[in-house]
Amino acid sequence: MALIIRATVLILTSLACAQDYDSSPPVYPSPLTSGIGWETAFTQAEAFVSNLTLEEKAQLVTGTSGPCVGNIGAISRLGFNGLCLQDGPLAIRQATYASVFPAGLTTAASWDRELMYVRGLYLGAEFRGKGSHVALGPVVGPLGRSAYGGRNWEGFSPDPYLTGVAAEHTILGTQQSGVQACLKHYIGYEQETQRNPGLSVDNITIEAISSNIDDRTIHELYLWPFANGVRAGVASIMCSYNRVNGSYGCQNSKTLNGLLKTELGFQGYVVSDWGGTHAGVDAINSGLDMDMPGPIDRSQNSSFFGGNVTEAVNNGTLSAERVDDMARRIMTPYFYLQQTNFPPIDGEEPTLNDEFPPYEDQFILGPSNVDVRDHHAQLIRQLGAAGTVLLKNTNNILPLQAPKTIGVFGNDAGDLVDGEYFSGSTFQNQFGFEYGNLPVAGGSGTGRLSYLVSPLEAIKGRAVQDGTLVQYILNNTLITSPGGLGGIVPVPEVCLVFLKTWASEGIDRVSLEADWNSTGVVHSVATYCNNTVVITNSGGLNVMPWAENPNVTAILAAHLPGQESGNSLVDILYGAVNPSGKLPYTVALNESDYNYALITNSTELVETENPNAWQSNFTEGLLIDYRHFDYYNQSVAFEFGFGLSYTTFNMSGLSVAETVFGNISSLPDPVLPVPGGNPSLWGVLYTVNVTVTNTGNVTGATVPQLYLSLPQIPDVGPTPVNVLRGFDKITLQAGESRWVLFPLTRRDLSYWSVSIQNWVIPSGSIGINAGFSSRDIRQSSQMTVV
Ligand SMILES: *[C@@H]1O[C@H](CO)[C@@H](O)[C@H](O)[C@H]1NC(C)=O
Ligand SMILES: *[C@@H]1O[C@H](CO)[C@@H](O)[C@H](O)[C@H]1NC(C)=O
Ligand SMILES: *[C@@H]1O[C@H](CO)[C@@H](O)[C@H](O)[C@H]1NC(C)=O
Ligand SMILES: *[C@@H]1O[C@H](CO)[C@@H](O)[C@H](O)[C@H]1NC(C)=O
Ligand SMILES: *[C@@H]1O[C@H](CO)[C@@H](O)[C@H](O)[C@H]1NC(C)=O
Ligand SMILES: *[C@@H]1O[C@H](CO)[C@@H](O)[C@H](O)[C@H]1NC(C)=O
Ligand SMILES: *[C@@H]1O[C@H](CO)[C@@H](O)[C@H](O)[C@H]1NC(C)=O
Ligand SMILES: *[C@@H]1O[C@H](CO)[C@@H](O)[C@H](O)[C@H]1NC(C)=O
Ligand SMILES: *[C@@H]1O[C@H](CO)[C@@H](O)[C@H](O)[C@H]1NC(C)=O
Ligand SMILES: *[C@@H]1O[C@H](CO)[C@@H](O)[C@H](O)[C@H]1NC(C)=O
Ligand SMILES: *[C@@H]1O[C@H](CO)[C@@H](O)[C@H](O)[C@H]1NC(C)=O
Ligand SMILES: *[C@@H]1O[C@H](CO)[C@@H](O)[C@H](O)[C@H]1NC(C)=O
Repeated sequence: MALIIRATVLILTSLACAQDYDSSPPVYPSPLTSGIGWETAFTQAEAFVSNLTLEEKAQLVTGTSGPCVGNIGAISRLGFNGLCLQDGPLAIRQATYASVFPAGLTTAASWDRELMYVRGLYLGAEFRGKGSHVALGPVVGPLGRSAYGGRNWEGFSPDPYLTGVAAEHTILGTQQSGVQACLKHYIGYEQETQRNPGLSVDNITIEAISSNIDDRTIHELYLWPFANGVRAGVASIMCSYNRVNGSYGCQNSKTLNGLLKTELGFQGYVVSDWGGTHAGVDAINSGLDMDMPGPIDRSQNSSFFGGNVTEAVNNGTLSAERVDDMARRIMTPYFYLQQTNFPPIDGEEPTLNDEFPPYEDQFILGPSNVDVRDHHAQLIRQLGAAGTVLLKNTNNILPLQAPKTIGVFGNDAGDLVDGEYFSGSTFQNQFGFEYGNLPVAGGSGTGRLSYLVSPLEAIKGRAVQDGTLVQYILNNTLITSPGGLGGIVPVPEVCLVFLKTWASEGIDRVSLEADWNSTGVVHSVATYCNNTVVITNSGGLNVMPWAENPNVTAILAAHLPGQESGNSLVDILYGAVNPSGKLPYTVALNESDYNYALITNSTELVETENPNAWQSNFTEGLLIDYRHFDYYNQSVAFEFGFGLSYTTFNMSGLSVAETVFGNISSLPDPVLPVPGGNPSLWGVLYTVNVTVTNTGNVTGATVPQLYLSLPQIPDVGPTPVNVLRGFDKITLQAGESRWVLFPLTRRDLSYWSVSIQNWVIPSGSIGINAGFSSRDIRQSSQMTVV
């Protein structure tokens, strides 16, 4: 039965013309959930929904004002206390007495599945402790197509495989704590500029940017991590502000009904980004299940959903069955995660939510200022260090060995002076704040710090042990002024320069160098101090024009480490932790090297009267980040996957074993639709085995990486030279060896065939490359599957 239904839908979607950039094919009707994987909860949801009036169903799918960032009202008659949805991906954003964890970017740089999971677990515990049913994270869109994207740091990496693994483990952890994860933003949300519609000078609505993505690229890049998330059982998915191939992300029937609910078999609910709903019935029929924040323009009496849902069912323009499906999709994860018995919303919450006050007093509030931080600071410190990447270390000048004098320079080194919560208009600018360390960036993805350990504070604390003199200047203008370093006597044995890069929702970056005259600061310090160590805290990647300066002896990309920033860094600087972070992106030689995916923005478009003017054609296809640099054989400063250690590693003995025998050349039809798509795609066909040895003198962790080189495919667009298809993080003592297995699934070996409209293993030889970065391949082999 299910097989027949699915096959019909597949035939319908295969009519889609993939190369039609400016149109998105219609895919209707919206598939009904049957709660696959959540059967018991689905039965409970069915019973619950069958008892609801139409008005109550409309209420259940429509946000209302309340104590949380998003609120679904209570239905007390049935013992349902409502839903509380809170930002965001690295903290319960606005809460007091909550932890600020390392950002997604930092988490990706750790390449550590266990730490990814535990971060998700602790995040979930904090949301739960505050009475928040839904955590609005993790982020896999933006993926990071453009290096300039203002929110890339909220997500993980421009590599979809790494991002998929990170999202999956975050979701598993969060939901293990009984909190619904919300995987966002779906899909093609790769720039902030014109992410929402605006008005021209003549008050014509200028529609949001349209991300125009071809069928192969959407499958192999942007949809890929969402498949991992759906397979991990994510409760909800947030649709994005932008248009996709001309149609809004929250009413795009191809991406919602087609890709997400049919192809990936998603059983949960789609919630709009806040203000991302632009229609009622049309959005609902396209697959949108929940409208947030609900009210249009803060008017409690007006919503695209709400009363319009009731009216549309009553007047016959919307099917009652679809509304029941929406309600079941919302209630099934609630029952699955046993949220019927849930802590009350923190009593402080209403005073912290400046979004939609005042609200009707229908939410049950608990005690105020509940401390949910537990012992999470330990994990934060550990992950902050694990996500710090050592890029250069001339003559092993790190770790520090009881230096007699240290100099600390730059406005990123010290404590905060503009507050500990980087939300609101003060921080809605290109450069954030001048003085203070950057442990986290801005917008809805930030967190309210309950304290910050700055690098300077932690360095001073550690220096006492060795009697080290600590001298510092935190004023970049003074550092770069003639004679500005005159007060530093004697010249320090080692000079630590701290640089930062602000980034925030709503604003794309305009430069890839760190902010505040960073290159000038490095130049000034390095001219005077021949042992200069540069540390960056950054809401995204940076180019490093000073990387080759011989006086710059070490570089640490510390990303956004969270509240234990200084402690995480000192652990690395002094060798208490051996660095094992690897770049989750490429550092190019020049900023202009990233011009394959510039943010769509021009005076012409800003001054346009053409409602459809904002178009971003993803013409680079699959070739973003290292896929671009490898394809064009371009030199880079530091490649994807790269990172040094205080020890050294080697790799040997690569072997490949078949795990499934017989004819595996064609993809079997699914017996049942399963969350994550055709289950055969997840079957392991081969395992690759390599042996890794610590060839140095100290214990350390490293990340063996597996890349596949698929043949060029006679289909759409160029195929990347190498794609990441496996990694592991292992700790080895000096001299120790261990073998590592990389399971290869059918999806890992396949490309998306536009003509066949399915995943296909290419015929010909597939290269297997194992190493310690995308350009440090130590062991290679070939195999032919088809
Ligand atoms: C985007 O692609 C369409 C064709 O699909 C083309 O007409 C349009 O000019 C392109 N826009 C830009 C900005 O390149
Ligand atoms: C729903 O209705 C059924 C039948 O009327 C009843 O047995 C059940 O207790 C109700 N469930 C709830 C949650 O009210
Ligand atoms: C555009 O709308 C605003 C607000 O309604 C109004 O003040 C303004 O005069 C309008 N401009 C034009 C050109 O109609
Ligand atoms: C129904 O939707 C329209 C926008 O399409 C809105 O103006 C109106 O206020 C909504 N009605 C209700 C009852 O929310
Ligand atoms: C039915 O109600 C919906 C929602 O208010 C409205 O958009 C639509 O125009 C109505 N259709 C008819 C035929 O009355
Ligand atoms: C930073 O240094 C410059 C140049 O000496 C000076 O003008 C400015 O006042 C200093 N800023 C602060 C905050 O002290
Ligand atoms: C886009 O253009 C606007 C207006 O010209 C400008 O303010 C903004 O900084 C630009 N953004 C980027 C990312 O270039
Ligand atoms: C940036 O630093 C350089 C020194 O490296 C200095 O000459 C220049 O004046 C500084 N620029 C600003 C705007 O402070
Ligand atoms: C390196 O530092 C020394 C001072 O120890 C200085 O003389 C030299 O010019 C510096 N080199 C560069 C490239 O800044
Ligand atoms: C580096 O600077 C130190 C302190 O100024 C000096 O003793 C040493 O000779 C310099 N080394 C080089 C290679 O310039
Ligand atoms: C991996 O290879 C090593 C030898 O290189 C071997 O000892 C080990 O058993 C292999 N592991 C598996 C699971 O095949
Ligand atoms: C290991 O230590 C020995 C003796 O101290 C030294 O000669 C060698 O260079 C070190 N090897 C590495 C890889 O650091």
